[in-house]
Formats: sequence, C-alpha cells, structure tokens
Amino acid sequence: MVLAHSGAGADQAFLDSGQYTRESILKYELVYGVNFVSPGGKRCAARLIEKLDLKPGSRVLDVGCGLGGSAFLMKQKFGLNVDAIDLSDNMLELARLRLTEAGLAGQVSLYNQNCLDIEAKNAYDGIYSRDVFLHIKEKERLFAIFFEALKPSGKLLFTDYCCSEGSWSEDFTQYVKRRGYHLCSAPEYRNLIKEAGFEVVEAADVTKQFIAFSEAELKTIRTLDIDENVRESLKTDWQRKIDRARTGTQRWGQFLGVKPSENTG
Ligand SMILES: C[S@@+](CC[C@H](N)C(=O)[O-])C[C@H]1O[C@@H](n2cnc3c(N)ncnc32)[C@H](O)[C@@H]1O
Repeated sequence: MVLAHSGAGADQAFLDSGQYTRESILKYELVYGVNFVSPGGKRCAARLIEKLDLKPGSRVLDVGCGLGGSAFLMKQKFGLNVDAIDLSDNMLELARLRLTEAGLAGQVSLYNQNCLDIEAKNAYDGIYSRDVFLHIKEKERLFAIFFEALKPSGKLLFTDYCCSEGSWSEDFTQYVKRRGYHLCSAPEYRNLIKEAGFEVVEAADVTKQFIAFSEAELKTIRTLDIDENVRESLKTDWQRKIDRARTGTQRWGQFLGVKPSENTG
C-alpha cells in the first residue's frame, strides 16, 4: 500500500463532530440510498464509474469514499481493485460495517486517510471522487498529489459542489461559511486541473442534473418513516439547496482529466 500516515487532526474532528456525526450520516444515507452520501446515489455512481472506462483489474483510488457505495460497486460490477480512503472516523466505522454486509470483506481496502497526505506515485489507473473537494482548501496541492499518484494515461474523475462565477447571495455566503466549504466555479476547476498537468476532457456544469436528483431526494424524504421534526428539517435543507441551485449561485460540476502518456510532449 502506498498511502502515507494517518490523517488524524483538526480537520478530522471538524468532520466527525460537525457535518458527519454518526446520526447525520445515517440520516443522509436514508435520503441518498444505502451506502451513499452524495447526489444521485447508486444510479449516478454507476454511470460515472462507467464513464471512467477502466478494464477489470485496474487499480482505482476512491477519495473520500464515505460509506463505500461507489467503491463496492467498482469491485462488484466493474471488477476494479479499489483503495478507498476517508478522513472521517464515523464514516469509516460505518463503511467497514457496510463492507461486511455487502459480502465484500477483504475485497475492498478501506483506509483512514487525509487525501492531502497521499504519497503514492504512478500507482493508480483511476482516481474517483464524489463531492469531497468542497471540504479542501488546498486545491492546487490536491491536484498535484493526484497527478503524481496516477500512472501515465490515468484518469481523474470527480463531481463537486461548485459556485457561480458572479457575486454570491447573502444566503449562499452564510451557508458556505456555516459549512466551512471551499468552493470553486467549474471554470476555476478546469484551470486547476490543467495547471496540474492534466488534459481536461470534461469540466461541465451539471446543475440541472443536481436539481433533478435533489427533487427526487425530496420526494424520498416525504416517504421516510422518521420522526416528523427530522423530516421537516431535511425537507427545509433540501428545498433550500434546490432553490439555491435554481437561482444560480450553487452549482454542481463534473470533471474528467487524463494524465498525459509518457511519450506525450
Ligand atoms: C459528501 S461526502 C461523500 C461521500 C462519498 N464520496 C459518497 O459519494 O457517498 C464527503 C466525504 O469526504 C470526506 N472527506 C472530507 N475531507 C476529506 C479529506 N481531506 N480526505 C479524505 N476524505 C475527506 C468526508 O469525510 C466525507 O465522507
């Protein structure tokens, strides 16, 4: 294994005692679907892994794997060999449980790891990440690390919460501040990936999809067998998210970059 030392530290405590308490994770999972904590759940993950277009046996790093849904799918449906990392202890504890429940114990490697501490070199055919980089301020450093970790011709595929290029509404500013997010616009991400050395294949604003997923998730929330106060608070959160996306400040981006092959340039 080529990952570095444990990622324990201030960021981990921030995640585990803030957005990703065990209780919050389980609540999110009810909305997104078993083993997922990101927009579109399993259906979206399957589509994106397909897009990665890697041969069975290829080696993939799932960055910020959460409960492991994508990593499990990569192994089960696509025959990929996956290292999955996450910084949150709460996430990983549940992911280990879910791994066993899925009958995949020993088949997907789960590590408690800060992605900024990855020390792998020329090790992966693909790096996949879903809605994680919003938590990370040092994005230039992040993409330099990924570039190093990929083999020549290796692919980086990720989705992330993004922002518009123009000025932000007060509501959006407060939301981002409360969550401690570090957001980029899709064009900013395009530049970051390019500057790190990747050929940018895709840097798309897919907010329409995000709205469609969020609307479906809102319907799910209405059907859940949960405490009414919890339902109301989830409904409010999801409706606000949809409104922010509809008015244009909150965006969702999808990105694919390829590390040039050794004989390029
Ligand atoms: C919105 S969740 C998405 C989880 C998963 N990718 C999914 O699709 O269900 C974001 C995840 O990123 C993880 N994360 C945040 N900062 C991280 C870091 N620096 N290194 C590794 N994981 C991180 C969080 O703990 C959380 O599990």
